[in-house]
Amino acid sequence: MKRVFFVVVATLLACLAAAQELPRTADIKCGPWVVGVSESEMTIVWTSTSRCMGWVEVAPDDGSSFYAEERPRYYEDLMGRHIISDVHHVRLTNLKPGTVYRYRLFQQCIDDRGHSPIPLGRVTASNVYSRKPFAIRTFDKSKEEISFTMINDIHGRDSIMHAHTKDITAAKPDFVVFNGDMVSFMGSVADIESGFMTRASKNFSPDFPLVYVRGNHEARGPGYSEFLNLFPTQTNTPSYMFFHGPAAFLVLDCGEDKPDSDIEYGGTAAYDKYREQMAEWLKQAVASEEFKTAPVKIVLMHIPFEKSAGWWGNNELKRLLLPILNQAKVDVMLSGHNHVYSFRKQGSLNGNEFPILVNSNNDRVEVKVTKKEIRMNVKDATGKLLHEHVVNVE
Ligand SMILES: [Fe+2]
Repeated sequence: MKRVFFVVVATLLACLAAAQELPRTADIKCGPWVVGVSESEMTIVWTSTSRCMGWVEVAPDDGSSFYAEERPRYYEDLMGRHIISDVHHVRLTNLKPGTVYRYRLFQQCIDDRGHSPIPLGRVTASNVYSRKPFAIRTFDKSKEEISFTMINDIHGRDSIMHAHTKDITAAKPDFVVFNGDMVSFMGSVADIESGFMTRASKNFSPDFPLVYVRGNHEARGPGYSEFLNLFPTQTNTPSYMFFHGPAAFLVLDCGEDKPDSDIEYGGTAAYDKYREQMAEWLKQAVASEEFKTAPVKIVLMHIPFEKSAGWWGNNELKRLLLPILNQAKVDVMLSGHNHVYSFRKQGSLNGNEFPILVNSNNDRVEVKVTKKEIRMNVKDATGKLLHEHVVNVE
């Protein structure tokens, strides 16, 4: 009897030890992607297969081997400690405009359950030996012509995502815009990974800056609060402003499309107040000298303004934001949401003093911007040109 007791206890202890065993190594699960790019900063984001400490090493694009010398390390810190997580966002600072930086990701699993954190297995890193290191170019306000590609309303359709981005590295846009509803539901980080970021990571995101405009579907599901964790901004909201070449870009959040009291939101929606706060931020943003003096002004917002009798969200966006954007002398707005292409000319919506291009859920928009014009080519998934628009900048 005693022997049986000891066997049972030993088995239980072994099971307990196994349950407490932490992964000893971590690899890149999804990513990297690069957001919040400016002339001097950028944020590298990736997810790892388990909780670990992540860091980035950076090298100039000078033709040297990544192994030529010890490279500077950048960590993500919180209150004096390097963060241990399975989502990593590392901010690089003090960069030069229009300059390519090569970078490498590192992971080290740490047992941080006790008083003294203990490094576990080996350090893993992205490959810089048998493939070229990841590389990103910072933005540059002195660049005369810039380009970007916009896709939207993918709703997790991998084949469409792949069709539009498989050749994007050859096209070499300065950045890529996701204009909302890239997934239908934000259940968790895994939805973002499987919905489109795994494909984006394979096709372009380590090497091209990403601008993510939140759609109304990214507001749905328990994982909605992960949005800023995965796509951080300097404003800590999805609305922000950035500059590249001759253009100032306003990235605007839209909230949901129905009234806050709608049964679909179960009493959790507070978008009326949120949109009011966003309008206050927008007033200050467009009043800045940097915005006012930019030769070209472009708005990126998922839900477009409608002529009349739109849904509540559309109507509120129009009431709150359109007067500010008109006064700010915006040149063009790019939207999605409707799943159908349209080009809304200046003045066609009872009050819009700039045109709005609404991209469908199956096409992409390739945009070139100079001081004089904004050229927008709408292409289908095969690359066939469907629509061409040129907006002259006054
Ligand atoms: Fe939408």
